[in-house]
Amino acid sequence: MNSTQQSFRQLGRTGLQVLPIGYGAWGVGKSMWGKTDDAESLKSLLKALELGCNFFDTAYVYGDGHSERMIAKAFEEYGSRAFVATKAPPKNFSWPSRGLLKDSFPADWLIFCTERSLRNLKTDCLEIQQLHVWQDSWLQEPEWDKTLKAVQVLKKHGKIKFFGVSVNTRDPKSALEIVRSGVVDTVQVVFNLFEQEPLEALFPLCREKNVGVIARVPLDEGGLSGTLSENSKFEEDDFRSNYFAGGLLKETVRRAKLLEDYLVKDHKLALSLPEAALKFCLSFPEVSVVIPGMRKIKHVQSNIALAHSKPFEKPVLEKLRSHAWKRNL
Ligand SMILES: NC(=O)c1ccc[n+]([C@@H]2O[C@H](COP(=O)([O-])OP(=O)(O)OC[C@H]3O[C@@H](n4cnc5c(N)ncnc54)[C@H](OP(=O)(O)O)[C@@H]3O)[C@@H](O)[C@H]2O)c1
Repeated sequence: MNSTQQSFRQLGRTGLQVLPIGYGAWGVGKSMWGKTDDAESLKSLLKALELGCNFFDTAYVYGDGHSERMIAKAFEEYGSRAFVATKAPPKNFSWPSRGLLKDSFPADWLIFCTERSLRNLKTDCLEIQQLHVWQDSWLQEPEWDKTLKAVQVLKKHGKIKFFGVSVNTRDPKSALEIVRSGVVDTVQVVFNLFEQEPLEALFPLCREKNVGVIARVPLDEGGLSGTLSENSKFEEDDFRSNYFAGGLLKETVRRAKLLEDYLVKDHKLALSLPEAALKFCLSFPEVSVVIPGMRKIKHVQSNIALAHSKPFEKPVLEKLRSHAWKRNL
């Protein structure tokens, strides 16, 4: 099947038609993922474009603009552009969000970050600018009117088309109020075979408000990639040495094996665990686009091939609810 025959999904009220497998570009930013080769990343970005991927998720903080510049370079070499969603970092550089809105996203900071990302991405207009963290309590602060005004001005001047938030990891209920308020066009949230909480309240609300859902970390940072064992070691500058610390690697591998047995070995619903993990995300119509991180061409090829895959049936999805896992990170 060629890319033109693949099924596109609408990214909520933005109206953008996106291939449901997008490109997560944290890794290509060469920050926090250990050894990363720019030449290989560039080839992977180009391969994704060639295979019809038209949605790239990045952030300034992914290598202080390196990921954004790599995407711009890929567009230049490929000869045409695709949709990009980037993110403005909180001014206090705190993940998860912390403190008052004025310390994270004052209006002038959001404008400054947007101008910087426009330069990195070599464009006059960002399809989507996202706040890289969010907490609903900010809606009640006096600063919010000013930040929201900045969003409106950026839209009016054609610097951004759409506005979204990226939800704090494993806290999908922390953005329900902003979705309800009607000011966001998109929401980006961790969603995978382990982290299924968005199904409870966030997804139904996004459907009601026609807010586009960008599903991130579909492979649990590698926990669902089928490539880790309990003896896996991470480089010092790979954030996963913390992410899987304290016995979490062993437990992740044990739980991933149960999923692989059920989905791949026993029921042959997918050829591999990463394939099953992406198919799971794609099985929910609320998800407009899933954005696996991929620095290797072979991952780009196998992941994008799933853009047209059939959803898992309801009884399978019901069974998979029992594999959800709330980790205390
Ligand atoms: N706060 C936020 O807003 C936030 C936080 C995290 C992530 N994100 C976004 O979400 C995207 C996805 O999350 P992520 O990159 O952190 O994690 P992820 O997608 O869950 O996992 C990425 C890992 O899976 C590997 N992989 C990809 N496809 C594979 C396949 N078919 N088989 C085996 N391994 C495969 C990648 O390898 P290679 O890289 O070697 O190809 C990489 O090691 C990010 O890139 C970023 O755009 C946003």
